[in-house]
Amino acid sequence: MTDHYAVIGNPVNHSKSPLIHTEFAKQTGQDLDYITRKIPLDGLASGLKQLQAEGFKGINITVPFKEQAWLQVSDKSAHAQRAGAVNTIIFNDDGTLTGDNTDGMGLCRDLINNHQIELKGKRLLLLGAGGAARGVIEPLLKYQPSSLFIANRTASKATDLCTLFAAFGHVDGGGYDAISGSFDVIINATAASLNGEVPPLPENILNPNGVCYDMMYSDSDTPFIIWAKQHGAIKAIDGLGMLVEQAAISFQLWRGIQPETKAVIMLIRQLKTV
Ligand code: ATR
Repeated sequence: MTDHYAVIGNPVNHSKSPLIHTEFAKQTGQDLDYITRKIPLDGLASGLKQLQAEGFKGINITVPFKEQAWLQVSDKSAHAQRAGAVNTIIFNDDGTLTGDNTDGMGLCRDLINNHQIELKGKRLLLLGAGGAARGVIEPLLKYQPSSLFIANRTASKATDLCTLFAAFGHVDGGGYDAISGSFDVIINATAASLNGEVPPLPENILNPNGVCYDMMYSDSDTPFIIWAKQHGAIKAIDGLGMLVEQAAISFQLWRGIQPETKAVIMLIRQLKTV
């Protein structure tokens, strides 16, 4: 029998998740289908009930529902509990829901496995302190960077996150004007690209061998990727690999089998160029 999965969001029709999970299913011989489902902005609770009633086995959650979904799910992994957002839900056979957040581990796997970027002992700068940033802090700190600075337009949100994650590593934060020194890896987790903007970054904050990563993925260079290239980043990486890696971790949570990601990342890159 075919098992059903979906990604819910609003908007959601642009999502690459159906393609990614269909490729994973083919590759691993799993009998499942995966669709997009647009949920009204005020309709998350009833949307979840409806999907459950229809017999879905699990879902991914995208913008703008990740934090609302966190509130709806009582059983969460410890990491998702602290992340304040869930991007993956398992509909258990007993009618309960289990939530997890695979975004941060997806980011780390892309950086480390696909791009050979060492995090241990490195100085990291994270731009943004919204839901997307919050989800990646603990996984990044697990790799023992020498420091992580969180910079945000609203400085108090960055300093609040420092307090929340202080037990996991050397983390500091503040406004963009509080950034000091230079960094080995700069990660953009802001929504600034949506307005065609880059956060107001000081000059000379990227080390000579520095790498930039935009968690956002778009078919053309984002404003932050353009900034990175202009400022001499040795690598300017978009969020496609993170998207595929977080999907692979969700797939494993649902199906108990780890799909191969590199071929799927390559496939989507090729589709972009045709
Ligand atoms: P998400 O779930 O994508 O993180 P969010 O929780 O609304 O969305 O957070 C958006 C993030 O992008 C915040 O860090 C926001 O900064 P503020 O907390 O100061 O609002 C940041 N952001 C959005 N537009 C921005 C811009 N034009 N320049 C800099 N930062 C921006």
